[in-house]
Amino acid sequence: MSSSCLIFFVSNSIFLLSLFSLTIHAHRCTENFLSETLSRNLTLCKRYKHRNGVEFGWKVENTTTQTLQVMVGARLDGETGWLAWGLNLGPEPRMVGTQALIGIKQTNGSFLGNTYNVTQYIKIGCNLLPTPIDLNVSNLTFGFLGHIQYHIIEATIYLPQTVDISRINHVWQVGKVAIGMEPKFHEKTLKNYDSTEIIDLQTGTSLSIRSARRHQARVAHGILSIIGWGVILPIGVIIARYFKKGPIHWNEHDQWKHAHKACQACGYIFGATGWAIGLWLGNYSKYYSFPKHGAYGISIFTFATLQTLALRLKPHKNDELHTYWSIYHLSLGYALLIVICVNIFKGIKILQEEETWKPTYIAIISSIAFIFFVFEITNWIKFKVDQLKSKEELSKQIH
Ligand code: HEM
Ligand SMILES: *[C@@H]1O[C@H](CO)[C@@H](O)[C@H](O)[C@H]1NC(C)=O
Ligand SMILES: *[C@@H]1O[C@H](CO)[C@@H](O)[C@H](O)[C@H]1NC(C)=O
Ligand SMILES: *[C@@H]1O[C@H](CO)[C@@H](O)[C@H](O)[C@H]1NC(C)=O
Ligand SMILES: *[C@@H]1O[C@H](CO)[C@@H](O)[C@H](O)[C@H]1NC(C)=O
Ligand SMILES: *[C@@H]1O[C@H](CO)[C@@H](O)[C@H](O)[C@H]1NC(C)=O
Ligand SMILES: *[C@@H]1O[C@H](CO)[C@@H](O)[C@H](O)[C@H]1NC(C)=O
Repeated sequence: MSSSCLIFFVSNSIFLLSLFSLTIHAHRCTENFLSETLSRNLTLCKRYKHRNGVEFGWKVENTTTQTLQVMVGARLDGETGWLAWGLNLGPEPRMVGTQALIGIKQTNGSFLGNTYNVTQYIKIGCNLLPTPIDLNVSNLTFGFLGHIQYHIIEATIYLPQTVDISRINHVWQVGKVAIGMEPKFHEKTLKNYDSTEIIDLQTGTSLSIRSARRHQARVAHGILSIIGWGVILPIGVIIARYFKKGPIHWNEHDQWKHAHKACQACGYIFGATGWAIGLWLGNYSKYYSFPKHGAYGISIFTFATLQTLALRLKPHKNDELHTYWSIYHLSLGYALLIVICVNIFKGIKILQEEETWKPTYIAIISSIAFIFFVFEITNWIKFKVDQLKSKEELSKQIH
């Protein structure tokens, strides 16, 4: 059994890898935005499809100073909203320390752009107000291009020669709420946390290889957890509960037990691998966390491990502890299945794969629940029929 599990595991990993190589290169600008950048003689364009949907067009020139001409665009669909883009000249591509250009869509219909110094105080809730920043910015404008339905920040930035434009941190963000000139808190989802990049402005190449790796790791974590904890484990439970006497004919008496153990071992290997990747992801994200999802994950791993260990401590059939052991093993098992289901939904929400992964997973658990239901009913009918038969036999014997 372990060899077939291994083959399954390897083929899955290959499938995952091929999936990733597709997702890495998806940074073409939309045609509309691209034609706007071209009409402004900008030479490079990049679209961050999964990171707030922001598009970024620019041109750099190296004369006495380095001149960076930028155009940043996104859709702001709400009544108010804001679009921010900036450079972080500190060591890391992150929010705190960003010298930002922010455009605000006001309730009264006007569009105003200004410069903002995003400090550590903003993260803890202080008001973000316009101030001069550490960049020499000229001709900053914010506006709405009606024909492409985009809100656009445009500016020219003069960077001193000391700034290395071949490796620079840029940060962007989109928010839904603004009051006056003050942008309010953006949402706390992965797409808001991922909206940073180390970029070579001369070529547009992303140098934050780690963030691409992180995206792949998240997908791997999700798929392995769903397959391991969410699919194979419940199938093992079905085998243990309903396959003791058929519908498959086990040629040995206890063969269903081997099938159950094989399933649980296989599910455990997948799930635990996914969990290990999850731990790495949790460690990796210094500036944000998903504490509930993580806590559920730890308890799933812990109790699944206990279930596996419990098999070794299983009392002998004739032992009176055997009943208690069975009750413990069963109730923990079912509780585990529920927590797994809850946490998979939490994970799908965090990954923001609600359009594709969620229906797939719902289809999977509904079929599993359906199988449970069908077996439960047939078992019940069988039980009733047997009862009737034995009653008839009893009455025959009496007469
Ligand atoms: C309007 C006021 C703002 C508030 C109150 C705010 C608050 C926060 C908080 C609390 C986090 C971290 C969440 C966590 O630790 O769980 C965060 C992350 C982040 N924010 Fe903001 N933010 C604001 C504006 C901005 C702006 C203007 C930008 C972009 C220029 C931005 C970009 C980011 C990025 C990229 C992250 C990901 C983590 C990091 O790089 O530190 N935020 N924000
Ligand atoms: C773009 O470049 C062309 C050719 O160099 C020039 O004629 C045109 O004015 C430029 N457009 C802008 C918006 O700078
Ligand atoms: C820009 O030009 C200066 C000299 O004018 C040169 O020292 C520097 O390396 C150039 N920078 C880039 C990124 O090409
Ligand atoms: C931006 O804020 C930081 C931290 O408070 C401060 O050290 C820096 O001088 C500010 N920059 C400008 C241009 O005001
Ligand atoms: C900003 O850059 C322009 C063009 O190089 C220069 O004339 C101006 O003095 C600079 N301003 C500041 C405050 O550095
Ligand atoms: C800024 O805008 C003014 C007026 O529109 C224009 O004359 C000037 O060339 C612009 N400067 C830059 C650096 O684009
Ligand atoms: C909208 O409000 C802002 C201040 O919040 C003001 O500066 C701007 O002039 C107003 N625009 C219109 C069209 O009333």
